[in-house]
Amino acid sequence: MATFALIVNGKTCQIDASPDMPLLWAIREQVGLTGTKFGCGAAHCGACTVHVDGKAVRSCNVSVLEATGKRITTIEGLSDRTDHPVQKAWIEIDVPQCGYCQSGQIMSAAALLAEKPSPTDADIDRAMSGNICRCGTYTRIRAAIHRAAQMKKGGA
Ligand code: FES
Ligand code: FES
Repeated sequence: MATFALIVNGKTCQIDASPDMPLLWAIREQVGLTGTKFGCGAAHCGACTVHVDGKAVRSCNVSVLEATGKRITTIEGLSDRTDHPVQKAWIEIDVPQCGYCQSGQIMSAAALLAEKPSPTDADIDRAMSGNICRCGTYTRIRAAIHRAAQMKKGGA
């Protein structure tokens, strides 16, 4: 065990962990932010997606040691009032079904739009292909990403 300083949603959190503890465990159990979900634990489903230095990563597959000193953003830190364009589009299009995969989907979508403000269907399919939805909300996810892109550009 050792002490690590994680920068989560702009705040520094000291945690006691072994260096190889998955970041997902630290976020949920030590920092106490449970919006990031555990799905497969093996980087296959995307439920645990967070941003590390602005990039979408699978937090089950990154160690606490690797994450130390980097900027980690979870779904709780994506916006102040659930008003990120992706969140607004998700609500407008009513994307979630059971909701379990959705924080991971939203984090992947937000990272995509930060990099590509006007993604094509192919860009969306590529960026979102690692986020599995057992409820099959893919069509609405794609529509909501296009809608969020429109909102980001200032369209109503
Ligand atoms: S829990 Fe991390 S990708 Fe599935
Ligand atoms: S909304 Fe149920 S798993 Fe995606």
